[in-house]
Amino acid sequence: MARRVLTDHFFLKAKAQGYVARSAFKLLEIQQRFRVVKSGAHVLDIGCAPGAWLQVACQSLSKKGGFVLGLDIQPCATPKQFCDHRVHTLQADAREVRAAELVSMLPVQSETASAGPRGFHVVLSDMCHNTVGNSAADVVRSMELARSAAALAVGEDGADGEEPDAGKVQPKKLHEGGPAGSQEWPGVLLPGGHFVVKLLQGTGSQEFALQLQRHFTKVSWVQPKATRQESREIYLVGLNRRL
Ligand SMILES: C[S@@+](CC[C@H](N)C(=O)[O-])C[C@H]1O[C@@H](n2cnc3c(N)ncnc32)[C@H](O)[C@@H]1O
Repeated sequence: MARRVLTDHFFLKAKAQGYVARSAFKLLEIQQRFRVVKSGAHVLDIGCAPGAWLQVACQSLSKKGGFVLGLDIQPCATPKQFCDHRVHTLQADAREVRAAELVSMLPVQSETASAGPRGFHVVLSDMCHNTVGNSAADVVRSMELARSAAALAVGEDGADGEEPDAGKVQPKKLHEGGPAGSQEWPGVLLPGGHFVVKLLQGTGSQEFALQLQRHFTKVSWVQPKATRQESREIYLVGLNRRL
């Protein structure tokens, strides 16, 4: 491992505290600021390997209830520390997996007797590809992954360029029917739910943020302290999915 990595403050802190990656501190900071994962929540963590966000998500559930589903294109074992039986992983490509498949993995006992809405309270995406050293191409690929995450969360990939009117930020009606066929909304994220997505700043990122504003009552840009100084990586946090 490179010396720069071995002496990195957040790498050492992660190792000392039992997190499998320094990225844990990014979600911890987001969690501290926005409390996106609440006790008992259903969390979908897209791009979960090696599992540091799974650890933070599970810690944030408190003792009882809740469910965390991690999805990654690579195999990802559930980290032993901080994760328990409520954490599950699935190896799949987020650009291809279907929302209904993810919703069907929610525990049956979480379904209420009145067949209340099934879905996730939080969708996190820390997905990134291996950068190719060409920043324009990297931005394009990161936007593709961010849009895939948005498509799973709210059923829209943020690709259409129509700008929202600041005065009327109504969500667009995109498709009829939810992931399990009974909901009134597309995507796996429940109304009132939160969305965190990583992207590389560049062409298309502002438009993507504007698209998210249609779906969330508040959208914030966040660059956690654990982000490497030279990185163009940034997170968008969308709070309270609109009905
Ligand atoms: C920075 S890592 C995530 C770190 C993770 N949040 C953690 O804290 O351990 C990015 C992950 O995105 C995954 N990824 C990239 N493209 C993907 C895709 N199309 N579908 C699912 N996962 C993908 C990579 O395999 C990689 O594990």
